[in-house]
Parts: sequence; C-alpha cells; structure tokens
Amino acid sequence: MHTPTPGFPNTRLRRLRRDDFTRRLVREHRLSVDDLIQPVFVIEGEDRTEAVPSMPGVERRTVDRLVAEAEALDALGIPAITLFPVIPAEAKTADAAEAWNPQGLAQRAVRAVKAHVPELGVITDVALDPFTLHGQDGLLDETGYVANDLTLDALVRQARSHAEAGADIVAPSDMMDGRVAAIRGALEADGCSETRILAYAAKYASAFYGPFRDAVGSAGNLAGGDKRTYQMDPGNSDEALREVALDLAEGADMVMIKPGMPYLDVIQRVREQFGVPTFAYQVSGEYAMLSAAFENGWLDRRACVMEALLGFKRAGADAILTYFAKEVAGWLTDH
Ligand code: PBG
Repeated sequence: MHTPTPGFPNTRLRRLRRDDFTRRLVREHRLSVDDLIQPVFVIEGEDRTEAVPSMPGVERRTVDRLVAEAEALDALGIPAITLFPVIPAEAKTADAAEAWNPQGLAQRAVRAVKAHVPELGVITDVALDPFTLHGQDGLLDETGYVANDLTLDALVRQARSHAEAGADIVAPSDMMDGRVAAIRGALEADGCSETRILAYAAKYASAFYGPFRDAVGSAGNLAGGDKRTYQMDPGNSDEALREVALDLAEGADMVMIKPGMPYLDVIQRVREQFGVPTFAYQVSGEYAMLSAAFENGWLDRRACVMEALLGFKRAGADAILTYFAKEVAGWLTDH
C-alpha cells in the first residue's frame, strides 16, 4: 500500500472530466473567431492566384481576388487581415522607395479592401524587406550594416502611406529601435490619430520564417543572410520585456510576440507583466511544419490546429495571427 494522497477520495479531479458537459462548464480558455487574424499575400496582376509551395493551401492573390477573399473572411466573422505584398524584382531598390509609393501594391490592396469590405480590419506590415535588393528590413550603411536611424525615416514614410491608403492598424515588424515613437509622432502630425500601432515588440531572429520569405520572394534577396543584428536572440526573454516596455512607452496600442509555439513563455510573461493587448503570430514555419505532418497522415489536422491555437490563448494571447484562421473560423461555426 502506498501513502494515500491528501484529500483523496474526497477530491477526484477526474469527476469533472467524466462528461462533455462538465468539461465544457469548467473549461478555462476557449478559442473564438474573434481571436483570429488572417495573414494574406498579394501579387500584381488580375484574376490570378499562385500557390506557395512551402505553405500548402496558402495562396498569393491579385488585388481583385484578395477583395473576394476579404469578403469571405468577413462573412466568417474574422475581425482582421494582415497584408503582405509580393514585390516584383524590378521594383526593388537599395533605398526601398517602392515601400511608400502611394500607388504601390500594398497601398492599392488596402484601398480596395477598405472600399469593398469596410468593416474588416486591415493591418499592414511596416518593414522594408519586400522592397530592398538585399532583403533586409532596413537600409544599409556603407559597411553593409542595417542602419537604424536612416531606416526610421523610410519606415515613417511607409507607415504614413499605409495610413493614408486607409490601413486601420500599422504593424512595424522591422525591430529598429525607436520606430514606434517615430511612426506615432508622424501619424499624429498627419491627423491619423486613430490609426493603431501593433508593434512586433518581441520578434525573434527565427529560422521559422523561411516559408514566409519564399511566399514574399525575399529569400533569394537575403541570400542566406540573417537578421540577427536587429531581431531578438532566441535565448532571451527578459529582453522581450524591455522591448515591450519601450514599445508601449513609445505609443504602441498592442504588442506582438513572434514566432508563437516556441515562445509561449514569452507570451505568458508579457501578458502577466503588462496586462496589455498581446498578440501571438503562429508563423509560416509553424504552419509548414504542421501541414507537412497533416499531409503525411501523421497528425490529425483539426485536432492539432485547435490544440495549438488554444495553447496561445492559455498562455495569455488576446489574438492570434495564423494561416489557419479561415479554416478555423469554419470549424468554429460548424456545430
Ligand atoms: C517582414 C516579416 C517577416 C514575417 C512577417 N513580417 C519575415 C522576416 O522577418 O524575415 C514572418 C511571418 C511568417 O514567417 O509567417 N519583416
């Protein structure tokens, strides 16, 4: 005979797990369609889509097709999309000027979506990587180093052009120091005081962004280079709290942790310490990894996607950027 557990048999935690109805009544965290943000890729042209080989099921779409997709996402109850333009090679330059072209692909896509589906939130990515010849998020100095303060000026121009096009939320994903304050100041000066800032506050120099770089076509430009001089070191979490504190002080309305699943501890620490809207990004590599297992029949698609996303909620995320958003919204409404 082993020593009896204190409380046993009065306390049997299995009692509440016995039936679906008690499991539902005592469930602490749930995923809702209100939590989901769908990332979308937009390409030049008309009435056309392209598959992204490393992200099975994900497509790049022309602006007209994106509008149709936005209508479908809105009909499913998804609150917002986040938009990533795929910039043709000939429009990429050392100074990334296409990033703030009022007639640029991102700007046209924002205008089209807001004109047709005004209630769907539109988030834009503020970073220079789709627009630079070298695929870095910032501008280079003469030594090839990503120059912080020079980049700020370009990011401000880009963010202003997104706000001007009607973006509801601008999301700086570049990890330059001081960019949130610079962008906030410019938006206020432009009268865009309602344009929100979702700061990629703790964005790690992760190997899980590979498929995204294929999707937007920046992998070749980056040519094996990395972003470790500005994105965070995966070994750090105290530093994530400093990043979040700074971005909030600079005027961020919401903060993001990225990637998601390998960084759940960071989500939890940020949510607990700051109590501010905290978003998680289940990135392209997480999507690719799960998709590969689903395609091989090794994991159950619906069960694993729902479990992974619930993990973000349990860690404290308020919203989740996920390539599974549309599919999950379908599941959540099908009873
Ligand atoms: C660009 C950007 C990246 C992602 C979002 N914005 C890639 C990167 O930093 O290289 C990654 C998203 C994903 O992997 O799903 N600054």
